[in-house]
Amino acid sequence: MTGQIQPTRALFDDVMVPNYAPAGIIPVKGKGSRVWDQQDREYIDFAGGIAVSSLGHCHPALVSALTMQAEKIWHLSNVMTNEPALRLAKKLVDATFADKVYFANSGAEANEAAFKLARRWALDKFGAQKDQIISFSKSFHGRTFFTVTVGGQAAYSDGFGPKPGAVVHAEFNNLDSVKALISDKTCAVVLEPIQGEGGIIPGTAEFIQGVRELCNQHNALLIMDEVQTGVGRTGKLYAYMHYGVTPDILTTAKSLGGGFPVGAMLTTAEIASHLKVGTHGSTYGGNPLACAVAEAVFDTVNHADVMAQVLSNEQLFRQQLAGLNDKYHVFSEIRGQGMLLGAVLNEQYKGRSRDFFLAAADHGLMALVAGPDVIRFAPSLVITPEDIMDGMQRFEQAIKQVVSGKQ
Ligand SMILES: Cc1ncc(COP(=O)(O)O)c(C=O)c1O
Repeated sequence: MTGQIQPTRALFDDVMVPNYAPAGIIPVKGKGSRVWDQQDREYIDFAGGIAVSSLGHCHPALVSALTMQAEKIWHLSNVMTNEPALRLAKKLVDATFADKVYFANSGAEANEAAFKLARRWALDKFGAQKDQIISFSKSFHGRTFFTVTVGGQAAYSDGFGPKPGAVVHAEFNNLDSVKALISDKTCAVVLEPIQGEGGIIPGTAEFIQGVRELCNQHNALLIMDEVQTGVGRTGKLYAYMHYGVTPDILTTAKSLGGGFPVGAMLTTAEIASHLKVGTHGSTYGGNPLACAVAEAVFDTVNHADVMAQVLSNEQLFRQQLAGLNDKYHVFSEIRGQGMLLGAVLNEQYKGRSRDFFLAAADHGLMALVAGPDVIRFAPSLVITPEDIMDGMQRFEQAIKQVVSGKQ
């Protein structure tokens, strides 16, 4: 039956809920950092499916893990545990501060679990008055109602009725704004080490260390949302490892599954003990297919040579973007870390990130935006120098198109 349906972009408008406005092209296959559409047109992928495809498309180790597991067992639910989930959890625990893992299916679900756990931990230990969650303006934590409310962009949480309460927002990289809000009523402060959707804004070491100290002073948990920064993207397994700061709860998704939907919340044994049997759950959390793929991602990424490649790729990106800027004068700054970089548009081009993104697609390059002023790059961690150079040539054509006004 599927052969009779022509999957065109027009069909999207006919049959899909209109909450997305996807591009006109429909990609049908990918290999490494190259993708082909229905017309067999080739694209270089600097987007990585929004910081997800950490090993590019159809990496042999991931294809093998998925197909091997597909022949064994697909699903059990949490009524029973399974081998891939246990192996992955053990590896995550051994490699991080955490003692315990909760598996989810997405970043939002991992955060939902983290926020509920923080509230339950505080209720059990200190009482109902300790329920305040401090988050940051421009932060992004997912699209469930709790996570958009904690997120720092009211546009995503307004218009859906009453929001979960006791959530307040401080200013990112402004420790005084946290000091002004935090008290013994605070149960958790949640931050992204690099704000991703908010515009690739790195937290300063001073700020992140300062938030840790404030949390300690007020018996509040520090939750690090590493959904976008995790699993090697910044050149360390998790970004917290750059700061000499340990979170109490960490959430991870996106690169964790390299393209297979999976998320996780990591925490200490003491904190985890407050999420007792029956307090939280998900039918698919810890699904064997998802965990088998994530284990293969972990085994491939968690090596010094891959981390070194992330840093050398960052250098090449920065050098190429600086060269383009010398020629075309479009950026005020390149910020971010590893394979999570933002080219910030200067005054003249402010508000026009989407024009660059569309022009890039015209020239066979998949890029991303992070708000109206930032072009975001979140490619495969193991993208080759050749693919970077090819992608940069395409990006130059896109820049030329925008600066010449042929948009
Ligand atoms: C920092 C951060 N947290 C959470 C999320 C939500 O993840 P998901 O879309 O998998 O629910 C995102 C997604 O962009 C993110 O960047």
